[in-house]
Amino acid sequence: MTDKEQYKIHEKPFYQAQEDEVELYEAAYAARLPVMVKGPTGCGKSRFVEHMAWKLDKPLITVACNEDMTASDLVGRYLLDANGTRWLDGPLTTAARIGAICYLDEVVEARQDTTVVIHPLTDHRRTLPLDKKGELIEAHPDFQLVISYNPGYQSLMKDLKQSTKQRFCGFEFDYPSAEVETSIVAKETGIDTDLAAKLVAIGGTARNLKGHGLDEGISTRLLTYAAALIKGGINEKAACRMALVRPITDDADIRDTLDHAIDATFG
Ligand SMILES: Nc1ncnc2c1ncn2[C@@H]1O[C@H](COP(=O)(O)OP(=O)(O)OP(=O)(O)O)[C@@H](O)[C@H]1O
Ligand SMILES: [Mg+2]
Repeated sequence: MTDKEQYKIHEKPFYQAQEDEVELYEAAYAARLPVMVKGPTGCGKSRFVEHMAWKLDKPLITVACNEDMTASDLVGRYLLDANGTRWLDGPLTTAARIGAICYLDEVVEARQDTTVVIHPLTDHRRTLPLDKKGELIEAHPDFQLVISYNPGYQSLMKDLKQSTKQRFCGFEFDYPSAEVETSIVAKETGIDTDLAAKLVAIGGTARNLKGHGLDEGISTRLLTYAAALIKGGINEKAACRMALVRPITDDADIRDTLDHAIDATFG
């Protein structure tokens, strides 16, 4: 299997659009513009990118960024083996060579000196210098860079430089409307719509507590966890406590408030 095939997504990832983001992304891809996707955890950013890679029939290479990541982790490095040294492409280099969509997840976690390696790839140059190897790669015509991050987790120390931000066009995602989210939870897990609507209502209660003791509301991801537990035969209240409440708070008052909302919903 070629590299290109190896990174392709063969089964359609279920993605329910909230607005016109699918068409907008297609336009950005057609112009080969780099894209950033912002939004809270578990709101569908990664699923959206997977869906778009599938729809455009392009390979997808995902990199989970962290603060220990170096430019070499993205670009590549020389490895020492029995036959001497050998160059190994990093994921960004592979993506630029084969014409993949390269998805840098949680990119603000990476240090700024790491992030700047994407600069020449994200402007008119579309090149990637491999300084250590003395090679300048021209990105494949299909190559596109996508980054995601959660603006809620940013601190002053951890933000993208304007010179990085202003190389992208952006999407700002949020949790979907109750109607759309109900449909997502039902379709993703196979539970019925009435039950999905109840889970979404509990999610709404938690989202209202954001900033009043909760850093982040219940994500769509956690709603699908609760649905999966219920589908597996766990009773509704226990499933909701386990999937929706215990992971998101260590505060006893908030926990009790949410547990009461669950009790009220499932009587
Ligand atoms: N619009 C959507 N269509 C289909 N599924 C969705 C959608 N939004 C959320 N989901 C569900 O929520 C889960 C989490 O979504 P996803 O992994 O894309 O979140 P994320 O925004 O990338 O979160 P994180 O920032 O934590 O990585 C998915 O696995 C899927 O079950
Ligand atoms: Mg993600």
